[in-house]
Amino acid sequence: MITSKFQGRSLLAEKDFTKEELMYLIDFSEHLKDLKKRGIPHRYLEGKNIALLFEKSSTRTRSAFTVASIDLGAHPEYLGKDDIQLGKKESVEDTARVLGSMFDGIEFRGFKQSNVEKLAEFSGVPVWNGLTDEWHPTQMIADFLTIKENFGHVEGVTLAYAGDGRNNMANSLLVTGAILGANIRIVSPKALFPDQEIIDMAQEFAEKSGSKLMITDDVQEGVKDADVLYTDVWVSMGEEDKFEERVNLLKPYQINMDMIKATGKEDVILLHCLPAFHDTNTEYGEMVKERFGISEMEVTDEVFRSSHARQFDQAENRMHSIKAIMAATMGNLFIPKV
Ligand code: CP
Ligand code: NVA
Repeated sequence: MITSKFQGRSLLAEKDFTKEELMYLIDFSEHLKDLKKRGIPHRYLEGKNIALLFEKSSTRTRSAFTVASIDLGAHPEYLGKDDIQLGKKESVEDTARVLGSMFDGIEFRGFKQSNVEKLAEFSGVPVWNGLTDEWHPTQMIADFLTIKENFGHVEGVTLAYAGDGRNNMANSLLVTGAILGANIRIVSPKALFPDQEIIDMAQEFAEKSGSKLMITDDVQEGVKDADVLYTDVWVSMGEEDKFEERVNLLKPYQINMDMIKATGKEDVILLHCLPAFHDTNTEYGEMVKERFGISEMEVTDEVFRSSHARQFDQAENRMHSIKAIMAATMGNLFIPKV
């Protein structure tokens, strides 16, 4: 029985969802978070089986899908890159058909957006994009939930993203913010500006929602009056040969106390999808210090540990929001609003 517009749908990219639908998922996440905190069961997916496909590594997304599945009464099964053939010895189409005959839903994290699209096309079950080179849509529900928790609303909030402007996070923030009516600024060197196609798509959404977009290489202009400063790693998964280029390009775009001050907002918050390089307590952090002489990359340790920081609330929200996404698209729920 189809009970809502969500039932049976995949979440592959934010552009496929309306503002009302995305806001519903954010509000539903908030509700499920409240139920969890109060110990009230919400086993909407009792008896379901969920495949978790990971070509790239993950702490938050994998943990969130696992815990969310179990809280919802479902069974999660992790299938890592060395566990299944996906694309190597068996086509994505054939893999999708097999997994779709056994599982009720599939999460995919990997490189190509076309692979997550093929999984959705051929599996016949909801597929959730847990990050590709192009988009990170489940992250967006958690991020805008965190923004709503801090400001009471999403519309009209100004978010400045400083860093690599052409990665999955920049793409997703630009397009999702534009759909939701948040003002998004991408603050990065020109060489790392988003693709024109993404800017055009976001601009079209912004015209409908009233969101104001800015793409700039000027830090002062980009962060002035921002309510949220957001950053991500300078080198994304799969680009590990680019440290030198990125350190050189992105040093001026580090979130530090000067940038916090340049917003002119005392209550500006820091968001970061994590993992973060804010010290040398990682192998990459150590390597970068040795090769390039800097001990912090995209955000300083001072800001990361300051009263502005919300990245760990944001990380927790991954679980509540992934739970909402799975329950809404697979739980036969009655959702009258959207
Ligand atoms: N933010 C995020 O997706 O974290 P993981 O890579 O740990 O899943
Ligand atoms: N841009 C980062 C996001 C990690 C959550 C990456 O793709 O590695």
